[in-house]
Amino acid sequence: MLPIENTATSPLTGQDFDHQFCEDVLTGLKATPKYLQAKYFYDATGDELFQQIMNCPEYYPTDCELEIFTQQTKALAKALIADGSAFDLIELGAGDAMKSTYLLRELISQQADFTYLPIDISGHVINFLEETLPVTLPGIKLKGLTGEYFNMMGEAARISPRRKVVLFLGSNIGNMPVAEAEEFCLELRKHLSAGDRVLMGVDLKKNPHTVLAAYNDAAGYTRRFNLNLLERINRQLNANFDVSKFEHYPTYDPETGSCKSYLISLDDQKVELCDETVTFRKDEYIFMEISQKYTVTEANQMGVHAGFKPTVNFSDSRNWFLDTLWLAI
Ligand code: AVJ
Repeated sequence: MLPIENTATSPLTGQDFDHQFCEDVLTGLKATPKYLQAKYFYDATGDELFQQIMNCPEYYPTDCELEIFTQQTKALAKALIADGSAFDLIELGAGDAMKSTYLLRELISQQADFTYLPIDISGHVINFLEETLPVTLPGIKLKGLTGEYFNMMGEAARISPRRKVVLFLGSNIGNMPVAEAEEFCLELRKHLSAGDRVLMGVDLKKNPHTVLAAYNDAAGYTRRFNLNLLERINRQLNANFDVSKFEHYPTYDPETGSCKSYLISLDDQKVELCDETVTFRKDEYIFMEISQKYTVTEANQMGVHAGFKPTVNFSDSRNWFLDTLWLAI
């Protein structure tokens, strides 16, 4: 979808990036229990596999949020336009902006006075948007910002004093454990002023079979997505993981709403990376990723806790996904 060679989720490039990558991987694999950081899933192969995951019949979140953005476009636009005053529309982790394009088109057709400020850690993503959006959406006012979310939100505040509307879609908040997500929302609120808004995409708790299947697709893309991180470490850091000796183990706990993926070592084994040796016992696991699910109430409580007033809930027809609009107070 995106013409991207490498969506390294760090502003660092080349050797600096690899150095940081090495350090993070070693820190995670020397810890007890072992873990790797989910942001490193997304190299060129990881991007492709994630696209495949989104196209799997079992992976529902993208379809649900797309349904909201295509079926409730007018209501979404109306809620963001609010009193009609000019605003900056900031999107955190914009990616290919596929869902937001529906919203942007509607805002333009309603002659809303806004500038779209997509923020992404990948310069490739931002270049792509700056080249394609003015063609697909004639008349759009657009300025891409490459960097870390909160640094770039500071930049957005310096560029313009207009009210802000922030999009944080796709259940990206789910990639943080609950405590960290709460921290993130507090930090987000600190970068905003009273009257600003946030549209937060949250995956909802639902039948546990449905959730688990989304992270254990029959075609095996999610399994490959996880194993690809070990392969990426081999490729980029000259490591020697034998990926056939690791097994994908997805779990979902309906009580906590935590969907977690692990890779289980099938043997006692040693792996060389970054001039060090890491030892795995048979059945030892690497924690790979969390995809946290919430109830509508829990999601909105998180907003309240961070200093927002939840105003409108947009859900899909199955009530599997929520885009909740928060007003900063
Ligand atoms: C991009 C973080 C929303 O957690 O559902 C999908 C990533 N990982 N399948 C998610 C993912 C495995 C996805 N997010």
